[in-house]
Amino acid sequence: MPAAAGEGNRPFAVAERLLAWYDRHHRELPWRTPPARLAAGVRPDPYRVWLSEVMLQQTTVEAVKRYFAAFTERWPTVGDLAAASNDDIMRAWAGLGYYSRARNLKACADHVAGKLGGHFPDSEETLRELPGVGTYTAAAIAAIAFDRPAAVVDANVERVVARLARIDTPLPAAKSQMREIMAEMTPQRRPGDFAQAMMDLGATICTPRRPRCMLCPLNTGCAALEAGDPELYPIKAEKAPRPHRRGAAFVALRTDGAMLMRTRPPKGMLGGMTEVPTTGWGARADGATDVSAAPFAAAWRRAGTVSHVFTHFTLDLEVFAASGVAGRAPPGHRWVPAEEIPGEALPSLIKKAIEAAVPGATMRVKR
Ligand code: ADE
Repeated sequence: MPAAAGEGNRPFAVAERLLAWYDRHHRELPWRTPPARLAAGVRPDPYRVWLSEVMLQQTTVEAVKRYFAAFTERWPTVGDLAAASNDDIMRAWAGLGYYSRARNLKACADHVAGKLGGHFPDSEETLRELPGVGTYTAAAIAAIAFDRPAAVVDANVERVVARLARIDTPLPAAKSQMREIMAEMTPQRRPGDFAQAMMDLGATICTPRRPRCMLCPLNTGCAALEAGDPELYPIKAEKAPRPHRRGAAFVALRTDGAMLMRTRPPKGMLGGMTEVPTTGWGARADGATDVSAAPFAAAWRRAGTVSHVFTHFTLDLEVFAASGVAGRAPPGHRWVPAEEIPGEALPSLIKKAIEAAVPGATMRVKR
């Protein structure tokens, strides 16, 4: 048995104290079924739980709220999402990042609607077989939607557990130990609320810096608090610095305001998303990144540099703009009318590049 938290934090005691805290202090979140409604017999909708968990992978709660509302309004059931086109889903996802999630979302909706009669599987093992559903997401759906005592460990939970047990092994090596401790602490009663309570505790009390230990329901027996060094945890292995890459983007406008665009290949970085012509940058910044790399001759002017941080590298894109471009779109490209630009599936990086060249072009005009 791992040395979970100290005397005062035996598994039972942790769960009861945390659930009592959650009953009073849980966050109101659009995808959440609060404790009072659960107690009244309302069950969470697995579709909404799954959708929110996929959106919340690598994205903050605040950023997800707007997208979750838009998706559930437009596609209220998994069948509605399965019936949507890939293009519509990519457009609606634009800006959330990590676009393989959107491709998997569609594949998963197709599978659940087409093969499983619209019903999500209700165990961790079977959930893990779905496209885009890994260990964390399967555990979260099993616990939150189906009340299974699954060990749900996201970054917030890792921090709480690392402090409770004062785990000296650095992340990511400590993950399996953290999962074991979480599995041991997770109660049979209200495991979904317990998982969400751990997340809320990590987000609001057991924060990365200046944790509010005075207010913490688990402060008795927290090993890191007792040692006086909660901010040191979790210990993280040092990461290699991100490499830096460079590239160029070319924003070509016709006299009627249409912009030259293309769709990225379906697989790989920003797969299936819309972009203006660019030099290569996804693999390595090699070759020219100045106007000599333009896809065709035009009166290109410099419109600035935009920067973006991806998981594995940082990128500077030099932006060039040309207006009054005439003629047919080159093969694989298309002219997008000005009023249709905001509705394209534009990743944040490409939006920044377009905005540098043509301020306001990606904004929806209110009528
Ligand atoms: N982060 C990931 N999943 C979450 C959830 N269900 N509630 C709050 N924060 C989360």
